[in-house]
Amino acid sequence: MRAAITATGHYVPPDVYPNAYFERNLDTTDAWIQSRTGIAERRFAATGATSDLIVPAAQRCLEGRGISPAAVDCVIVATMTPDRLCPSTAAIVQRKLGAVNAWGFDLAAACSGFVYGLVVATKMIESGAARSVLLCGADRMSSVVDAQDRATAVLFGDGAGVVLVEAADDESLGILDHVCHMDGEGETALHIPAGGSAQPASQHSVTHRQHYVVQDGPAVFRAAVVGMAEVTQEILKRNDLQQQDIAWLVPHQANRRIIEAVAKRLGVGLERVVLNLDRYGNTVAATIPIGLSEWNDAGRFAPGDRIVLSAFGAGFTAGSVYLRWAMKRP
Ligand code: ACO
Repeated sequence: MRAAITATGHYVPPDVYPNAYFERNLDTTDAWIQSRTGIAERRFAATGATSDLIVPAAQRCLEGRGISPAAVDCVIVATMTPDRLCPSTAAIVQRKLGAVNAWGFDLAAACSGFVYGLVVATKMIESGAARSVLLCGADRMSSVVDAQDRATAVLFGDGAGVVLVEAADDESLGILDHVCHMDGEGETALHIPAGGSAQPASQHSVTHRQHYVVQDGPAVFRAAVVGMAEVTQEILKRNDLQQQDIAWLVPHQANRRIIEAVAKRLGVGLERVVLNLDRYGNTVAATIPIGLSEWNDAGRFAPGDRIVLSAFGAGFTAGSVYLRWAMKRP
């Protein structure tokens, strides 16, 4: 049995923070942020948790498919900002959404979380273990970014993207292949030092601001360009695809310069690259499903389009999925 994305939905909070907001609060400029990252604005949630970003996105996704939350078999939440360490955000989403018949779990792979989750959801459908998997990629990065650190504060945003994965009607369409990698040597290049079992929360950890994202930006940049290009080249080669066969490349949205470098290495023109980083910043596990949902809503994917998703993130983690779009235009 072949698995396919059969519905999409996304949600971003209403409050827009343009680069001018950081010009007022930090030693930075709109020109620096735009030229070094490609980000013009992002959304931050004033209240609520990651599950509150997911629920409206999930509702739109299920409404688009015309099914009730009770029809969902499994909820997977890819996130690095769970509502709490325990219980899972998937359990909270299940309750808030009313997905009363679903089981589920969280998946921790940072910016690669959605791609990893799509592989898991695909295998569940292919094996017959589930008929419908609600895959959510969501992060409330404003809860873990140090507003005083100009090198990270400007990069991230809050948002959620959700897809429904079900059996494909047409066996030639849907999710065809994947490549996933991990290199644990990257642990401290991008991490949150405290709050886990390695360094539980303490007065010291709070005083020393160790509950925020810490990264070696240039090291992550270099690793992301190489890692994303390699994983994408690998999936193209495995499937005997030339760059001109690809209708759309959907890369994780961390930095426009990373995306441009990867697209150049692959020989894919930017007119075939999904880009929304300028409006949302890096929403981590949400970037790819928000892009899929926006492009689907706008009717930019045609049935049968060959699409490659590519991600790179903390861990380090990397993943790529090759699919043929199985939904009709809205
Ligand atoms: N405004 C002005 N100056 C800044 C800012 C800012 N917001 N942030 C950093 N700088 C300064 C630095 O302090 C440094 O100053 P110095 O030379 O006096 O020390 C200078 O700019 C250059 O810093 P670099 O870090 O070398 O700048 P770079 O061109 O590499 O860009 C950036 C930094 C944007 C963080 C880049 O390294 C990057 O995007 N890295 C990837 C990180 C990332 O995207 N992480 C997200 C998660 S992982 C993922 O999603 C793939």
